[in-house]
Amino acid sequence: MPKPLHILNGPNLNLLGQREPEIYGKASLADVEALCRKACTEFGYELVFKQSNIEGELVDMIQEAGREACALLINPAAYTHTSVALHDALKTLDIASLEIHISQPAKREAFRHISYVAQAVDGTISGFGINSYLLGIKAAINILQKS
Ligand code: DQA
Repeated sequence: MPKPLHILNGPNLNLLGQREPEIYGKASLADVEALCRKACTEFGYELVFKQSNIEGELVDMIQEAGREACALLINPAAYTHTSVALHDALKTLDIASLEIHISQPAKREAFRHISYVAQAVDGTISGFGINSYLLGIKAAINILQKS
């Protein structure tokens, strides 16, 4: 059995489905987890799926992924645009890492146009609603199968 794929979710994503549904859609984070779990199972991978509103906890979770995961997907939410700590944690990884967004931050307010995370990951998938997560899983597995 390969190591599990880890998916991390940042602040306010626990409110997915209730929070600005016109931007983020009506699916809850539990719905997203179920979709991701099904996709990972189909590809033969276990999934570890977590959320935190706390920056330091996300740093710990990234370090844990470095020890225990085959690849990491992270939707850093608002910390995308502010966090040197997440950037630095992601830079320590030697596994595939992808940044995921439900919305397309480049089309939104100017403060969302900067990502501190993008420079520290292998790729970014954004703007496809919750399908961004499924596209991210496919991209990560594609990287794993090539390595
Ligand atoms: C988000 C985009 C961020 O700008 C925002 O702060 C979020 C969600 C997304 O998934 O589209 O909380 O990461």
